[in-house]
Amino acid sequence: MKRTSRFQAILAICVLAIGFGPLMVAAQTPDASPATSDTCISGPFEEKETYTIGMSQANKGEPWRQAMNDQIEAAAAQYDNIEVVFADAAQDNAKQVADVEGFIQQGVDLIIISPNEAAPLTDVVASACAEGIPVIVLDRKVNGDQFTMWIGADNTVIGEHAGAYTAQWCEEQGFDPCLIGEIRGLEGSTPAQERGDGFRTGLEANPAAEIIASQNADWLRERAIPVSQSMLQANPDLNVIYAHNDPMAEAALISAENLGMDMDSMLVIGIDGLPTPDGGLRSVIDGRIDVTYVYPTGGQEAVDWAVRILDGELPPREIILDTIEVTPENAEEVYQQFGGE
Ligand code: FRU
Repeated sequence: MKRTSRFQAILAICVLAIGFGPLMVAAQTPDASPATSDTCISGPFEEKETYTIGMSQANKGEPWRQAMNDQIEAAAAQYDNIEVVFADAAQDNAKQVADVEGFIQQGVDLIIISPNEAAPLTDVVASACAEGIPVIVLDRKVNGDQFTMWIGADNTVIGEHAGAYTAQWCEEQGFDPCLIGEIRGLEGSTPAQERGDGFRTGLEANPAAEIIASQNADWLRERAIPVSQSMLQANPDLNVIYAHNDPMAEAALISAENLGMDMDSMLVIGIDGLPTPDGGLRSVIDGRIDVTYVYPTGGQEAVDWAVRILDGELPPREIILDTIEVTPENAEEVYQQFGGE
């Protein structure tokens, strides 16, 4: 297979930037690395009838991650020479390291990974690279630069939007102080840090807005139920719940119902906005979660880029996916746009 020139690769990125303008606008985090990456690519790759992609998923138990796998499977079906093998780490870093080692041993042609936590997965991703296997990191990040490219939405920007929305809502309600409880994602996963930091930046617009409780529930609805229950019991005056994902926002609503608290006067924010019957978009339409942010899984983009990389193209270092702020005003429209079930 012929390798595309660097110029062609840059041209492709420009076309992408024009075609999907907002995708690139969200890229506010400066990236010191070059626009295109030949890190971790040892092509030209051998011409084959079928290429095997190993997809290492952090945890298939969560609806958003199942949606990512489904999207990858559907995207791969659009190509007649791509086969995907899935591994589920069930939230266990050691299992995910073993999964990636297994892919390396099997000699897959390319790996897509959505890492459970950054630090524990960094070395094994670098080993795949060293073996000449391109690695696309999806959604959560690893540390360093030993991977081919990263694809995902900008979690800092999402957090900033959530913070700015909260700051303004607090002002409109005339709450001073405006008391906020935060339910965080798994600490060693990069979106938890970025969604938390971005939120704090967004809140700076209103000094009355104050985070008085912050607890970790590891992204999980089941874990967020006791966490939110004790948070609400200890802080019955909370005005806002900011959950790092929709399942944990739903958990807070369940806890409030269990405690007989009236959540109508509170602002509840989540993130993910899945267009499924129990997803965040429906929840906003039904008047449960007040605001969510569409967090695209990137499954389609990952497979498309996998194909292009295997075809010899140099990919950009990162692709930033767009997000949408979803409120009761646009929830139905966004639901239709994403083919809500
Ligand atoms: C699923 C999930 C999503 C969240 C993403 C962050 O595991 O928790 O709800 O948006 O991971 O990586």
